[in-house]
Amino acid sequence: MNSFYNPVQVVCGNGAITEIPSLLNNIVSAGGKVLLITWNEAAAQLEAFAKLSDNFEFRTVCFNESNPTVEQLFELYSQTADYLPEAVIAVGGGSVMDVAKSLCCFYGKEIQTPDEMRRMISEKSFGAPQTKWIGVPTTSGTGSEVTCWATIWDPTQNVKRSVESRENFAYAAVIDPNLTNGMPLKLAVSSALDAAAHAMESYWANGSNVVSKALALGAVKTIMSHIDSLIGGIDNAHEYMAQGSMIAGLAFSATRTTACHSISYPLTMHYNIPHGTAVAMLLAPVMEINSSCIAEYGALLEALGVGSAAELGEKIRCILNRAGIPSTLEEWNVDYNKIPGLASLGITKGRADNNPVNITKETIEGILYSIYR
Ligand SMILES: [Fe+2]
Repeated sequence: MNSFYNPVQVVCGNGAITEIPSLLNNIVSAGGKVLLITWNEAAAQLEAFAKLSDNFEFRTVCFNESNPTVEQLFELYSQTADYLPEAVIAVGGGSVMDVAKSLCCFYGKEIQTPDEMRRMISEKSFGAPQTKWIGVPTTSGTGSEVTCWATIWDPTQNVKRSVESRENFAYAAVIDPNLTNGMPLKLAVSSALDAAAHAMESYWANGSNVVSKALALGAVKTIMSHIDSLIGGIDNAHEYMAQGSMIAGLAFSATRTTACHSISYPLTMHYNIPHGTAVAMLLAPVMEINSSCIAEYGALLEALGVGSAAELGEKIRCILNRAGIPSTLEEWNVDYNKIPGLASLGITKGRADNNPVNITKETIEGILYSIYR
């Protein structure tokens, strides 16, 4: 029977980052080493972090790549492994969070080459993490601060890898909506739709359970009923997106995602379609295929504020376009003749087989043609 387990301590609300020093006191010895990994130097200047050097040995590194690769992860490991922090604070979007939590699995182990790291990831042979981490998201979408896996891309081998361990949940997730206020609109909308996808896919996933379904429904409603405000620039919309994203993260931390995420990965890898946008375009056609197998489907439609999957498709296309984001594969310059090849890459273990309806290469081809123009 599916169960719900998530040990992350969640601190959520404007000003939440001021709690970080006291959280660190629980997991780092006096004068112990703390590493801040962040998107840019500005985060390190925030008052909550500037004071940390009073109580801890404190170092900052920047990581500003999207969709981190095994080689980039190894490079960051090489820069910081000798420092061997007791705790890592990840301040950023999903990419920063993914490299930070991955590093916690590797610190304390001797790794000489990217290939050695690649092998440890695929064999899950890194053992128990020695370093704890705290996630501080600056985008509202990935939910990575409350999941125990990290996405690391491997374009040289044409695959997406997952660094995961139930022993590597964050010690704490600090959700401070003030940090997400400056997000550009396209990023904010794409991230919000990624979070909506996490919640929707969690709701219909084979791995769902009574707790995850309640969380998923709440997240869908929170995000979809405030996304117009986000596009309209209404002030407190970011607070709702921050909450919805984190709650969606809790839901799918127990269930994983399904066909939308599975099919989206080659679109991102080969055509640079932002992750949230790629999954958003797939939500309606996948929901249509799944609809007869989704328990309590009416509650999901109600939370989405639509009467059917077709209506959801129109709604998402409208949201993307209002934010200035292309909403068809043609607009993203996907080669029509390459769709069969993309479809064959769209079946990812642990995602496609978590979908309530069996997804074949032919099913995916049909879905991709349906969102081509
Ligand atoms: Fe996602």
